[in-house]
Amino acid sequence: MNILILGSGGRESAFAWKIAQSPKCQNLFIAPGNAGTTQYGTNVNLKVTDFEGIRTFVLGNAISLVLVGPEEPLVKGVHDFFLNDEQLKNIPVVGPQQEAAQLEGSKDFSKQFMEKHNIPTAAYKTFTRDTLQEGLTYLTTAGLPVVLKADGLAAGKGVLICTTLEEAQQELTEMLAEAKFGEASSRVVIEQFLTGIELSVFVMTDGNSYKILPEAKDYKRIGEGDTGLNTGGMGSVSPVPFADAAYLKKVEEKVIIPTVEGLKKDGIPYKGFIFIGLMNSDGEPWVIEYNCRMGDPETESVMRRIDSDFVDLLQGVAEGSLNEKELIISPKTAATVVMVAGGYPGEYLKNKVITGTENIHESIVFHAGTSTDGDNVITTGGRVLAITTLQDNMFNALQQATADASRIYYDGMYFRRDIGFDLL
Ligand code: AMP
Ligand code: GLY
Repeated sequence: MNILILGSGGRESAFAWKIAQSPKCQNLFIAPGNAGTTQYGTNVNLKVTDFEGIRTFVLGNAISLVLVGPEEPLVKGVHDFFLNDEQLKNIPVVGPQQEAAQLEGSKDFSKQFMEKHNIPTAAYKTFTRDTLQEGLTYLTTAGLPVVLKADGLAAGKGVLICTTLEEAQQELTEMLAEAKFGEASSRVVIEQFLTGIELSVFVMTDGNSYKILPEAKDYKRIGEGDTGLNTGGMGSVSPVPFADAAYLKKVEEKVIIPTVEGLKKDGIPYKGFIFIGLMNSDGEPWVIEYNCRMGDPETESVMRRIDSDFVDLLQGVAEGSLNEKELIISPKTAATVVMVAGGYPGEYLKNKVITGTENIHESIVFHAGTSTDGDNVITTGGRVLAITTLQDNMFNALQQATADASRIYYDGMYFRRDIGFDLL
């Protein structure tokens, strides 16, 4: 079959790497892809939100499965666009429809969903511009620190953790009255602060049955020792030692089953991935957020631990036969170190020539923000490359990924050398 992946980051590179290995995949296309995805398939110069362009390409190239990487096209309704089109409606899309994508696209929707289905999550209240005064008063009783979340998608920037009442009130005012995050902050969720260790859990579902993919830990801060600004993700590790069988069983019973069943009860179809961001507080899972897609840079580690045919699993999702499919997970440890551009996550350097990737043999170099200038591979994004290793034990995996990252060079290159070492 011919498969189209939408997206251009490290996540999509890892999907492409895995899908290209399947005997079921004849031709693989990645739209728009990056300089690395050409190793696995053909790049297509289309934006992930150019639905008409995608339509023309899909029909012209006999695509029989579309895998959506990022949240934006899902929240904008790419799956619904297919279902509403006579010629596209029988071409399966892996990724939820617009209504279900609200689990990520609207914090208020996801909080209401969790409350309704008794899924453990932080206490919250939602405010709009009309109820700003009540929100300011609510903050005086909410306790500190307190978490403010823009309701809509805000490119990963819409969550603020405030440590003083003055700061919280100021931020709430800016979000609601001054549209700090545009339309995304026209509604704000005020949430209790949770303490603990974060964990990323991934579920694949066809709307009826589900499979739990390898869990991962993600490192979001730019600096070593988890310091400095938040980024899109500086590295990941899978498996995560504290997420043992007993803990994951708790996650399944308290979070995953109620989530899948809750969607069913609410009559919300869901074919795709559910990424559950959890806080582990004293051995109990609390949901921080849902995402309607896989995580980045978690996918790079997760894909390396899947030993079964990923296309077969994707077909199971699309056809509603996931319960008949086999998911084999490697017991080995996967580690991913993300290499970023100088200046990231602020204003960052671009168009720097990347050298040294040919020296990497033990790890896979997944490209993220890269392109070519004809002769060279150059940096174009903030997150440039994701170096992923699979080894028998965690120490070797962490060391290998870090050592391999240091074999690559571009002007301004930076990566964290401590990814995963806190777990040892
Ligand atoms: P989100 O965009 O929902 O993933 O939030 C970004 C980050 O903010 C999360 O990964 C957490 O580190 C942090 N965060 C979000 N909600 C909470 C909370 N209720 N308590 C503590 N930290 C939180
Ligand atoms: N790694 C976090 C995310 O993909 O949102």
